[in-house]
Amino acid sequence: MEIRILSLSEINLAIKEEIASLLRRKPNAVLGLATGSSPIGVYDELVKAHKAGDISFNEVTSFNLDEYIGLNSDHPQSYRYFMNSHLFDHIDILKSRTHIPSMDKNSEDYYETYDNKIKDHGGIDFQILGIGSNGHIAFNEPGTSFDSLTHIVDLKESTIKDNSRFFNDVNEVPTKAVSMGLKSIMNTKRIVIIITGKNKANALKRLMSKEITTDFPASILHRHPKVTIYADQEAASLL
Ligand code: GLP
Repeated sequence: MEIRILSLSEINLAIKEEIASLLRRKPNAVLGLATGSSPIGVYDELVKAHKAGDISFNEVTSFNLDEYIGLNSDHPQSYRYFMNSHLFDHIDILKSRTHIPSMDKNSEDYYETYDNKIKDHGGIDFQILGIGSNGHIAFNEPGTSFDSLTHIVDLKESTIKDNSRFFNDVNEVPTKAVSMGLKSIMNTKRIVIIITGKNKANALKRLMSKEITTDFPASILHRHPKVTIYADQEAASLL
């Protein structure tokens, strides 16, 4: 696992550049996308590059990591809404090729078929991840099996509290989500994980301790051959 410590704007540009170079090589690449505040700057750079005519997403397929259960897609805190407003509405990706896991059996992104669908598309070429302060990746909370595929998750209190900053009240935060599993994430071909800000310093320190344990889900990434951590100085302050 490689770590690169850069400023926030350098991180956003570096990841944008990795994606741009992938799309030049493989215009129909499959992208694995994340929500949360960490990837927003990367999405801004991708939109800029698209508007400047540097990249097209016309042949791209995307799979998102997770989605809350109980919020409609038009709810401002749903991850579908987040992806549309931060990225999809501003680039030339076909919405029909953007996938967000759903627990609705009638949806084509029903969680039990999600991993098969990713496989049918040849797997995820490039996966963006953030990290929760308790080490969760996607919504794989501490204790999640390393063999997990896309599944339904009961969110931990610490995650509900962390994510309540996006809601008017902590009681509005859903308590369940659908999430790609740790095995689903390990099946991706290349992973970048964005870890920035002081409140992630402990998580980064624990990740760098190299202990692999289900108590700290992100630690499984040590077993993946192609992971880069992009961290800023604040997150790296305890290293
Ligand atoms: C949520 C998402 C994760 C994300 C995490 C960190 O729980 N499900 O995918 O990595 O939040 O979010 P942020 O980037 O806002 O710190």
